[in-house]
Amino acid sequence: MAKYNNMTLDPETLAAQALGWEDEVTGAVIPAISLSTTFTRGDDYSARDNGTYLRDHGPTQKHAEAVICELEGGTDALAFGSGMAACTAPFHALEKGAHMAVSSVIYHGVLSWLKHFAEQRGISYTLYRAGDLDRLAHVLKQKPTGLVWLETPSNPTWAITDIRATSELAHSHGALVAVDSTVATPVLTRPLELGADLVCHAATKYLNGHSDVLGGMLVTGDASNPLWKRIRQHRLYAGSMMGAMDAYLLVRGMRTLYLRVRRQCDSALAIAKFLDGHPAVEQVFYPGLESDSGHEIASRQMQGGYGGMISILVPGGRDEAIEVAKRARLFKRATSLGGVESLIEHRKTSESDVTDTAQNLLRLSIGIESVDDLMADLDQMLGNS
Ligand SMILES: Cc1ncc(COP(=O)(O)O)c(C=O)c1O
Repeated sequence: MAKYNNMTLDPETLAAQALGWEDEVTGAVIPAISLSTTFTRGDDYSARDNGTYLRDHGPTQKHAEAVICELEGGTDALAFGSGMAACTAPFHALEKGAHMAVSSVIYHGVLSWLKHFAEQRGISYTLYRAGDLDRLAHVLKQKPTGLVWLETPSNPTWAITDIRATSELAHSHGALVAVDSTVATPVLTRPLELGADLVCHAATKYLNGHSDVLGGMLVTGDASNPLWKRIRQHRLYAGSMMGAMDAYLLVRGMRTLYLRVRRQCDSALAIAKFLDGHPAVEQVFYPGLESDSGHEIASRQMQGGYGGMISILVPGGRDEAIEVAKRARLFKRATSLGGVESLIEHRKTSESDVTDTAQNLLRLSIGIESVDDLMADLDQMLGNS
């Protein structure tokens, strides 16, 4: 809850009105998009509040940052040109020689970055099985660790990690915790309230929600943390700021975040139940199913839904899975997630060799279409027409 105009408002109200920002010059309820790369200084050469150059400050980017910062209950946020730029910024900002504990079942791009660049950057990492707190405790005891990185629910099996328990454990060993919350969104989980130090989003996904923006966001609960200061510096010198047009579209997208995510959760739960027990499906991964290994923690940690992402195993291997996807009429055969349109993906084809994702796994991103139409398409894809 935040206070605006002496009213205590729900995050969904703040999102719908994009914090109520108006155009200062015209009073337009949608602030003008600011494309300028440079900003004038005063007579005494002092900088304006917004700064002097777009690589570090931009009015439209600041609007997007302010919205996500409020929705996550943070103290500062930074917008990046992609989810990967946001995810890897903390790795660049760690001191040389730092060690990280990294959950092993996460977005493959992050694992690939670590595999190819961590050593060059002078940082080391240990992978631990998502959610395995005993193993994490062992890793933390073995090596002084600067950062624990996790994703929940995590690609591509939507494994759930207990953010509160992980944060307590990490903090007791002096490590910070970063959570890639792309799939949960602040609608379902607010990691900072559960003890995490950093939240990362591929804003490309649910935050924007319309598959037409590439962007990332980092949010901190403590802007005075030295790591956060170095992350800001990294963004400035790496030049990884989000573009103004993307920031504008992202603010627009976030206005409907709560509506979209709730609808996607409702549809995904219905679809997961429909697929569970379907004769042409071997296994369904969805934390909303009681049989799912993450269900208990997810029920505690996720408020109002279990997300819009489902994965299934179909009988056979790669060819059989691709054959199923080939029959899609409504689902689009495409990578990515979190848009209003539903997607089906043979996940292993998209992932690099750093993962051991099953060849018969199909990943579904549930959109906002009629749930009956989506189920009918899945049913015919699976062989019942
Ligand atoms: C969980 C997660 N984190 C990070 C990323 C990277 O985001 P981007 O593609 O915007 O760089 C993705 C992309 O799929 C993702 O799913």
